Amino acid sequence: MSRKVGIIGVGNVGSTLAYTLASKNICDEIVLKDIRENILEAMSLDVSQAASAASSKTKVSGVVKACEFKDCDIVVITAGIPRKPGMSRDDLLLTNAKIMQAVVNETIEYNSNAIILIVSNPLDAMVYTALKTSSHPKEKIIGMAGILDSSRMAHFISKKLDISSDEIETSVMGGHGDTMVPLSNFTKVQGKNLSEFLSEDEILDIMEKTRNGGAQIVKALGNGSAYYAPAYSTSLMVEAILNDTKETYPCAVLLNGEYGYENIVAGVPIVLGKNGCEEIIELDLNDEQKEQFKNSIDSVLELTSTLDQKFF
Ligand code: NAI
Ligand code: 2OP
Repeated sequence: MSRKVGIIGVGNVGSTLAYTLASKNICDEIVLKDIRENILEAMSLDVSQAASAASSKTKVSGVVKACEFKDCDIVVITAGIPRKPGMSRDDLLLTNAKIMQAVVNETIEYNSNAIILIVSNPLDAMVYTALKTSSHPKEKIIGMAGILDSSRMAHFISKKLDISSDEIETSVMGGHGDTMVPLSNFTKVQGKNLSEFLSEDEILDIMEKTRNGGAQIVKALGNGSAYYAPAYSTSLMVEAILNDTKETYPCAVLLNGEYGYENIVAGVPIVLGKNGCEEIIELDLNDEQKEQFKNSIDSVLELTSTLDQKFF
């Protein structure tokens, strides 16, 4: 059976994801879609030619019509607009929710079995929008952020200790924003607890740097946000689903009683496989982490309540 991945929005993250998937040669076909037809054409050609350079079998094409974007196993949505001068957070939320709603409706019409991975920000609120817009199974709508945030945490630990990232295991829970919860006590360095390597203050500093990881890149870039790490992180989710690896990754999903929350989207460790989110793992959080997770849930709730009042 052909393994087909669709990507909607081929700006920085979408095109880098297409390039990453094509060079990894993990699917037979990638189909791209964007409202900017010139960019769509350019990215389809460029990524196709990268696939040739990499001797990858993956075929890459771009389509304009919704009905031609069909029969994908996985659809990744990165479509959206960044915040513009004079635009409030709510304006951005409502604009991107409108884009998300339109894109999800079209996607489901022609890709009824697809697993939908959401990347667009504000992440947790966009996953909520996608879920509320459709009757697609909740296990098949999943947001990418936790893998990225965990990679950032691993990066800062690696830099601090001069130990390679592949010997560091980290996890970050909660909403994708300032209130995310880096889990220092679930972090292992060379199989040992992080506290064996760093003092409490040093760990707090790593957690703060992790929370600020995206903003640090936004500030340095001056125009736009990170894309290599976000795209690579998304490619790991695609790979886990296509290859049914049952890998555990932190991802944004709808909670249905887990951790004591209902009808709210947040990042939690999940088992990813061919059916999407196959299990939500409930970690034994300490009291401080429970409090931080609640705080993070509250900040997601602020956005989703705005959507409930002004959008749905
Ligand atoms: P970008 O601006 O480079 O790309 C967005 C693309 O979406 C553009 O090409 C635009 O033409 C397209 N688009 C807009 N409306 C569309 C529609 N209705 N149909 C199809 N395409 C449409 O932005 P970038 O850097 O690629 O980021 C994409 C999104 O991902 C942003 O919302 C960003 O904040 C978010 N993001 C989320 C991360 C996460 O951890 N979840 C990490 C990095 C980015
Ligand atoms: C990031 O964390 C902007 O959400 C994006 O880099």
